Amino acid sequence: MCVESNQAILSDVSSGKIPIFEPELETLVNQSIESKKLQFTDQIKDVLEFAEVIFICVGTPQGETGKADLSQIESVAIDIAENLNGYKLLVEKSTVPVGTHIRLKNTMSTYLKDNIGFDIACVPEFLREGNAIKDFFNPDRVILGVESENSRQLLTDIYRKFECPKIWTNPATAELIKYASNGFLAMKISYSNMLADICEATGADIDSLIEGIGQDSRIGKAFINPGVGYGGSCLPKDVSAFIDIFDQNNVNNGLLKEVDSINRLRPHRIITKLKSSIQNLANKRIAVWGLAFKPNTDDVRNAPSLEVVSKLIEEKATVNCHDPQATNQFKKAFNQNSNINFYDDMYESVRECDALIILTEWPDYLSTKLGELKDKMNNPLIVDGRGIFKPSEIQKSGFEYKAFGLKENNN
Ligand SMILES: NC(=O)c1ccc[n+]([C@@H]2O[C@H](COP(=O)([O-])OP(=O)(O)OC[C@H]3O[C@@H](n4cnc5c(N)ncnc54)[C@H](O)[C@@H]3O)[C@@H](O)[C@H]2O)c1
Repeated sequence: MCVESNQAILSDVSSGKIPIFEPELETLVNQSIESKKLQFTDQIKDVLEFAEVIFICVGTPQGETGKADLSQIESVAIDIAENLNGYKLLVEKSTVPVGTHIRLKNTMSTYLKDNIGFDIACVPEFLREGNAIKDFFNPDRVILGVESENSRQLLTDIYRKFECPKIWTNPATAELIKYASNGFLAMKISYSNMLADICEATGADIDSLIEGIGQDSRIGKAFINPGVGYGGSCLPKDVSAFIDIFDQNNVNNGLLKEVDSINRLRPHRIITKLKSSIQNLANKRIAVWGLAFKPNTDDVRNAPSLEVVSKLIEEKATVNCHDPQATNQFKKAFNQNSNINFYDDMYESVRECDALIILTEWPDYLSTKLGELKDKMNNPLIVDGRGIFKPSEIQKSGFEYKAFGLKENNN
């Protein structure tokens, strides 16, 4: 049984409609509703009557100072405490700063009306949007942070069928593992962006360089993807909250700050690349392919597209946007502007354009018909924020091609 406080979302999911784009999710939810394994409510009381274990999955967005905003967590804790009707295990599934289990415990104790027992555990979630179902059911590992035998028994039972390694630890460590993982992934991306920059400056070949370092089994190739940087609802906010956790504990966090600042500069570097060919963007028509922060999702939270499009508008360009899924989310997130047009057809979006910028590596874009693209464009210039084309092939097709890791005077 799921409790959801947003009435629009509740009404959608209760009738089997999923308000976000996530492969396979709608089918799974509908099957589960039909087989009566899944139900929804807006009342915490219903859940408390129904279940002994409650997973807390509410948002923990970035607060104004960069730290995680725990107001949704607090509000759930108060709601549960005020309605508690017997022993419950509360499981933090949301990504929360180390020590949140103590804060939860204190809030619960403050608002509890009777002396009812409860436990708190932390089982962080590692699924990736766009691959959520597969990741959820086949995780690399499950982290189980518990502090009582009862919690351990309940979670052993729930995770019995998961065949991956299970790492039992205390809640504080489990809370920290999630940030340590996302911090490391962000570091790999920023490191690869730093490598792309040195390749650009020296004429070294970024693809061979990645192959060369990636074949070292201690390094590997995963997540060494130079480009326009990481976005989405997790990495940017988690790096920011992790920086704050170090600050709160007076531990040096220079490395994480640099990871963050390299990433923040990537969307600006797209504009710099564009302007190295078109100095004045005023009245130019620029196509942007890819609004989602990554393929297979319609999520635009912290997507590089937000920054790139707003910079283009600031420079008085007209922007033609295309995304296979994320156009509606982008329209909600971005102030309406008469200089932005949206297209369903990727080829129509480039008609009469002076440049094409690629920000998401959607499969549709990987198989672009370059001839058709070139015929439609006013000026055959591609600024590729995800490095989806082979430079030699695309240049052979008559395009001027700029991508991260390619030496500037080659671009
Ligand atoms: N999105 C991901 O890929 C992902 C992956 C791993 C971990 N996480 C973590 O999971 C958490 C949730 O992320 P998300 O992207 O799903 O957030 P989200 O904001 O999209 O969804 C949270 C949902 O909780 C609902 N909600 C808020 N307060 C409520 C309350 N008191 N009662 C009932 N429902 C309530 C909201 O209406 C919303 O539908 C975050 O901590 C995030 O860091 C997310």
